[in-house]
Amino acid sequence: MIHYIEALVPDRPPLLKRMEEEARKEFIPIIQLPSIQFLRVLLQLHRPKRILEVGTAIGYSAIWFANAVPDCDIVTLEISEEMVNRARKNIEEANLSDRITVIHRDACEGLEIDKPFDLVFIDAAKGQYMKFFNHYVPHLRTGGLLICDNVLLHGMVVDSIVPRRKRTMTNRLRVFNRFLAEHPALETSFVPIGDGIALCIKREGI
Ligand SMILES: C[S@@+](CC[C@H](N)C(=O)[O-])C[C@H]1O[C@@H](n2cnc3c(N)ncnc32)[C@H](O)[C@@H]1O
Repeated sequence: MIHYIEALVPDRPPLLKRMEEEARKEFIPIIQLPSIQFLRVLLQLHRPKRILEVGTAIGYSAIWFANAVPDCDIVTLEISEEMVNRARKNIEEANLSDRITVIHRDACEGLEIDKPFDLVFIDAAKGQYMKFFNHYVPHLRTGGLLICDNVLLHGMVVDSIVPRRKRTMTNRLRVFNRFLAEHPALETSFVPIGDGIALCIKREGI
């Protein structure tokens, strides 16, 4: 079914297609096509002006976001220096360096933030989602969107048998998903698209 849905995603600029190819060849885990097309529609409904992304990789999702909402600015955090350099190059090639700021940083350390964000997108180390939430969701405005990718972890969060080396990450994601579902200041929906997306609207009180 995934190939069918992928084939229905509208054509992309050559740069994005080249990045998809690079990611496929080099096993760089960028967001899946059906998921990013879903977020593109969502962003056009929500029209965020300020986006914070946790986990840049080569800048693929940041470029999609910037193309989806032409008047938004994006701050994106990335721990790997190599990825930061590649992302900056791609963003420059897309003529988006004035709207996408790539910060070389371990997102677990937090960031000084002076203005609230309209959307926070979490897509970095899966075992650290709770830390990212605690650092960045307080800087999401009331009515803003929190989007977390990979929350189903290839179905492992629902499976009873999980490979040993994936157990800690899987258990942490299970705890995180339950935390989102039960949080009194969030309205959350788990969408089984791509690798699983948690979509939350923030109410008063975080
Ligand atoms: C799934 S990839 C991001 C994909 C990107 N959002 C996209 O779809 O194009 C996750 C990225 O998060 C980065 N990362 C992992 N842990 C991190 C941390 N603690 N702080 C910042 N970046 C981190 C990884 O180096 C990797 O490049």
